[in-house]
Amino acid sequence: ISLKPYNTFGIDVSAKHFVSVSSVEDLKAIFSSEEFPQKFILGGGSNMLLTKNIDALVIHLNLKGKQILSKTDTEVYVESQAGENWHEFVLWTLDKDFGGLENLSLIPGNVGTSPIQNIGAYGVELKDTFHSCKALNLKTLELETFTNSECKFDYRNSIFKQEAKGHYIITSVVFRLSVKNHDLHTNYGAISSELEHMKVQQPTIQDVSKAVISIRQSKLPNPKEIGNSGSFFKNPIISKASFLKLQENFPEIPSYKVSDTEVKVPAGWLIEQAGFKGKTFGTYGVHKKQALVLVNYGDAKGTEILALSQLIQKTIARIFDINIEAEVNII
Ligand code: EPU
Repeated sequence: ISLKPYNTFGIDVSAKHFVSVSSVEDLKAIFSSEEFPQKFILGGGSNMLLTKNIDALVIHLNLKGKQILSKTDTEVYVESQAGENWHEFVLWTLDKDFGGLENLSLIPGNVGTSPIQNIGAYGVELKDTFHSCKALNLKTLELETFTNSECKFDYRNSIFKQEAKGHYIITSVVFRLSVKNHDLHTNYGAISSELEHMKVQQPTIQDVSKAVISIRQSKLPNPKEIGNSGSFFKNPIISKASFLKLQENFPEIPSYKVSDTEVKVPAGWLIEQAGFKGKTFGTYGVHKKQALVLVNYGDAKGTEILALSQLIQKTIARIFDINIEAEVNII
């Protein structure tokens, strides 16, 4: 079958064998069977670039369900199964007036893959409200619980991208959200100006979500219309010493403080300076409004987008002497 509908980049590669799984029991059964030695897990398909047909058994994780586990006057624990759509889950929590996920509105993908790269936007990261997750150990076929600290969250990183990679499938996630007295994060520049623009004086979590949705819609392409995987690269973290040197040649280079010795530089700025913003090569290119996003306008091949990303990396290394890393998984 074609995997085009299962990846937000809209790449048309095929899977020889495909199964959609809607219970942990079925998942265990598949992993205890010898029939298909090679297996490939597919969640929301929002953070991958497929460059070839897949011979392995493609397992589409379709575990559904969300529930309130416990609630007090100040906080609530909610659990979502891995196959729930992230944004629909966020809207469900906002509808119940539970706070904490509003800044993460409209991020593509599923709940089960959100911890892998510790999704983040507008000053908030998943780790801020993540309580724990359950994951199937693919060796023992037992469910294990990972607490927040056990996940070793970092900028777009976690244990599931490092030592636990390939050994677990996350099946559900528990979040700890606020019930009253929500702690709003509106200091990320774009949000406060968007709230002003919306003429909101005392914003609610629902207002913050609306502001985030509106900012994202104005900059980021909708994967239903233009294939993409959000930020293709991570923002590089460089030493303060190299940053100061760069600043001599590029006085207007933006940066965010990471520690006393390191700064993060927006890769979108580097790519724009290198002249790639809005560049189109036939059916693919660099998004017009946000240079960090590579796009598929039609039937681009994964290998073409990969080659473009490598050209961008080489160019950035030549001009700025900075290596930018892909954020998207290249398959
Ligand atoms: N910039 C440019 N040109 C561009 C894009 C960005 O000059 O074409 C510069 C500007 O100076 C701008 C700065 O980069 O002020 C930051 O841009 P933006 O606020 O759009 O954020 P970003 O650093 O490019 C990160 C995340 C996004 C997240 C936004 C908002 C990464 C890799 N990306 O992008 O996450 O939505 O911040 O918080 O950290 C994703 O991971 O898929 C994603 C979309």
